Amino acid sequence: MEQYAIKGGNPLVGEVEIGGAKNAALPILAASLMTDETVHIENIPDVRDTNVLLSAMQDIGVMMKRAGRHQATINAANITTTTVVSDKLKKIRASYYLVGALLGKYKEADVVLPGGCDIGSRAIDQHIKGFEALGAKVSIEFGRIRAKAEHLVGSHIYMDVVSVGATINVMMAATLAEGKTIIENAAKEPHVVDLANFLNSMGANIRGAGTDVIRIRGVQKLHGSEYMIIPDQIEAGTFMFAAAITKGDVTVKNVITKHLESITSKLLEIGCEVKEEDDCVRVVASKPLRHTQVKTLPYPGFPTDMQPQITVALALSQGTSIVTESIFENRFKYVDELIRMGANIKVEGNVAVINGMKKYTGASISAPDLRAGAALVLAALAAEGYSTVDDIRYIERGYEDFHLKLQALGAQIDIIETERDFQKFKLKTG
Ligand code: EPZ
Repeated sequence: MEQYAIKGGNPLVGEVEIGGAKNAALPILAASLMTDETVHIENIPDVRDTNVLLSAMQDIGVMMKRAGRHQATINAANITTTTVVSDKLKKIRASYYLVGALLGKYKEADVVLPGGCDIGSRAIDQHIKGFEALGAKVSIEFGRIRAKAEHLVGSHIYMDVVSVGATINVMMAATLAEGKTIIENAAKEPHVVDLANFLNSMGANIRGAGTDVIRIRGVQKLHGSEYMIIPDQIEAGTFMFAAAITKGDVTVKNVITKHLESITSKLLEIGCEVKEEDDCVRVVASKPLRHTQVKTLPYPGFPTDMQPQITVALALSQGTSIVTESIFENRFKYVDELIRMGANIKVEGNVAVINGMKKYTGASISAPDLRAGAALVLAALAAEGYSTVDDIRYIERGYEDFHLKLQALGAQIDIIETERDFQKFKLKTG
């Protein structure tokens, strides 16, 4: 089983290029099957989640050409079935985007229910409510979600919780419904806007994405398009916090600085310097880190996907910090691993109280999910001595070439498989 071997202690210094946003790529790739014409997508991150989705789409007859690692030319004119039950799809949360896409185009979908990171209960009631409001009959049977409609008809839908997935799914289905749909209390994340822009580039009529009211006038069909996915806000934020945690100086390139505002403002509060230019941001951590309070919230609030990374930084800050997780109830599982590395953190319910300490010490730790896994790697990079991080398959779901990008910033990190590899790594770095 592959692991990361890490020797901590080097401040990360240099430049890192950010790839396309995983959470925009997933719905955009799913939506590309909503037209019979050819679609060309650029800036697809080469990560496990996108590759699993693309492969499941090929399994149902979607034609795909890959000219390079980050591009796909997709044609869905000859889809053979709207039943997608491949076992591999169970592993990714975004499998449910195929429901919105297939239901919109073919008025039926039968898709295996999502898995993904174990960070909370992850209900799908708002997706179902939205599909039903558009006139579909929806059932959950045999671990699958089935949706079918004679006609989809536009509707006025109020989301009871702000949900990225439900907003995206309903937006896709409503694009090819008859008449007008209004989604109220919609999610405003950059990837929701990116999907709306992509659908509009295919001839959809969607207004208001990025606000909490999205208005969709249904169209009869969509046409081909060429589209470039936005940069990944969370990958960028992770490298920005890598600079803070390792007391480094990292320039994060190819970002949309507007998407990083909540992350930048927390870095400034804890004592980092942050310099923004057009499409890059430099984070310098030359002073001791200070404590703060943070609560995760839907965009433009501080992202839940950055909660483990800020917690790792605050455990190294002076004073007492408080982190409140308001999106997913089970997102502090990694704290036990940080405690084994010397952190002083107490979790009660959805609140972590963190008393800052001087430094982490290396340990053997496991990645419990994608973002927490990345955050534990950052802790190990700041720690005294050696660490191993296993279950790195979680990290590979959403970070392309994570260890290579860290190496280029001066990190001592390698993928190992055996104890012998670990000994070799120690000799190399000792
Ligand atoms: C998306 O998950 C992301 N995943 C997650 O990123 C991210 O953490 C999350 O949005 C929040 O930003 C993808 O884009 C593939 P939600 P999603 O629906 O869509 C509740 C990562 O690390 N809810 O916005 O599943 C739900 O339980 C991953 O990249 C309902 O109650 O999140 C949660 O408390 C992890 N009913 C809250 O809403 C529903 O029908 C937000 O969930 C749907 C959601």
